[in-house]
Amino acid sequence: MARHLITSALPYINGIKHLGNMVGSMLPADVYARYLRQRGQDVLYICATDEHGTPAELAAKEAGLPVDAFCAEQHDAQKAVYDGFGLRFDYFGRSSSPQNVELTQHFARKLHENGFIEERAIRQVYSNADARFLPDRYIVGTCPHCGYDKARGDQCENCTRVLDPTDLIDARSAISGSSDLEVRETKHLFLLQSKLQHEVEGFIDAVGEEWPHLASSIARKWLTEGLHDRAITRDLDWGVPVPADVWPDLAADGKVFYVWFDAPIEYIGATKEWSDQDPASRDWKSWWDESAGAADVRYTEFMAKDNVPFHSVMFPATQLGTREPWKKVDYLKAFNWLTYYGGKFSTSQKRGVFTDAALELLPADYWRYFLVANAPESDDSSFSWEHFSATVNKDLADTLGNFVNRVLSFSRKRFGDDVPAGKEAGEAEQKLGTEIATLLAEYESHMDALQFRKAAAALRALWSAGNSYLEEKAPWLEIKTDPEAAALTLRTAMNLIHLYAVVSEPFIPASAAAMRSAFALTDDTATWVTPADARALSSVPAGTAFTVPPVLFAKITEEDLESYKERFGGEE
Ligand code: 2FM
Ligand code: ZN
Repeated sequence: MARHLITSALPYINGIKHLGNMVGSMLPADVYARYLRQRGQDVLYICATDEHGTPAELAAKEAGLPVDAFCAEQHDAQKAVYDGFGLRFDYFGRSSSPQNVELTQHFARKLHENGFIEERAIRQVYSNADARFLPDRYIVGTCPHCGYDKARGDQCENCTRVLDPTDLIDARSAISGSSDLEVRETKHLFLLQSKLQHEVEGFIDAVGEEWPHLASSIARKWLTEGLHDRAITRDLDWGVPVPADVWPDLAADGKVFYVWFDAPIEYIGATKEWSDQDPASRDWKSWWDESAGAADVRYTEFMAKDNVPFHSVMFPATQLGTREPWKKVDYLKAFNWLTYYGGKFSTSQKRGVFTDAALELLPADYWRYFLVANAPESDDSSFSWEHFSATVNKDLADTLGNFVNRVLSFSRKRFGDDVPAGKEAGEAEQKLGTEIATLLAEYESHMDALQFRKAAAALRALWSAGNSYLEEKAPWLEIKTDPEAAALTLRTAMNLIHLYAVVSEPFIPASAAAMRSAFALTDDTATWVTPADARALSSVPAGTAFTVPPVLFAKITEEDLESYKERFGGEE
């Protein structure tokens, strides 16, 4: 049994996320975690809210709440939506936890002891109109590298390069729009990443080859440009305080660590939060400390492409600089953007679909399947209501849902409430078994390779194989001339339904549970399907009682489609 640590990029606390956010991080991580658990692996899937930084401060101000109260409220609100989506985190923590504060300060101390942190006086942008120092994100201007005119002071969203606010051309305050900015001197801590360049290169050489091209190319690009020393403190009220025993002046000044310094450490922090809930049976160090058992852990991270530089280079540099044996990422699964009709999902412009609104419309499984089957893996992919409803209607309602309902209703009508026996399996069943075993192996290999679109295609092919078999055998005709043959067909089809229940679980867990519980199997402990099971299609024996579940997937009608487009906006 292998041990798999899985993390997905921590969602910012400042509001409910849209579908684009979820498809590039938490959702595929959940699909993968569920799959590995079903395959009998030891899985720990950790996520948390990313609670520090200016966005949290400003959102709290807007909500008229103290920041800590705002974060507590928003954490619960986000958690409720993720529960609704069926995301089965082993733990969903908070980056403002005492555990993360302690770990972040520990990391800083170690980095300092090893000569990787330096105090420097810097000149920082101060906005006279706003009467405050402006954090990097709140300075916007033109990117000096690519010319994008809405680049932020910390990173250009367009070319993904990391920036310093003073790099921006025509800088202005994102709060007031004022360009009445001046530069004042103040002291900050710097992480001397330049000293760690070669080690990080060695690290990427060792693990990056295996990563998706999107992830390794961003890491390489960053390294080619050279790692620069970066300020890791900010002038904010809300954040992890700089420890006063090491840096009394900065602590007295109220400096806190930059949100991007403490956020990745929260992967470890949240694991400790999890472990602290039940220390007798959970050991966070066995997942993160290579001298305490974490050396054999396989660590997979999920994120959208804008997060790749921080996870592939900056966080490993931070870990390496402690000179402690922290577990580092083995596989970095990165995603492109999901667009809304080819344009940006936008929180501020309320364009696109938010995760809470999505759940008000339709059950989670509809979204889970559509989003993962169309995940922006090798390119950006576009959401449209037309594509969404066509996919739901064809794959979920027609191919899977209708098969389940048709088979179970027909069998009950003709043979009663138990799985009928009928003839021995014949040539058609053997052919079907071989096909199912082949498709299952394909599905597994795509899941093992974290190729979610391909895995979804293989899953769809499994569902379609059942339909082809049913059309070919036509039990509604067989029943007229040879009821025993019809019974064999239905028994085989019911076994397919059970197999679908098992293998579809990572994508559509609620519907999978409904399919599985249709059968009153006394000891249904199967977590996965072996090739032999797939060929034999006999896990549900004749005589097993069954019920017909309510329609699994309702079709999206033309009227629904129009109303969604009207409510959320369609093509521009
Ligand atoms: O981009 C984001 O949404 C960040 N909140 C991701 C942080 S990931 C991790 F490092 F915490
Ligand atoms: Zn740029």
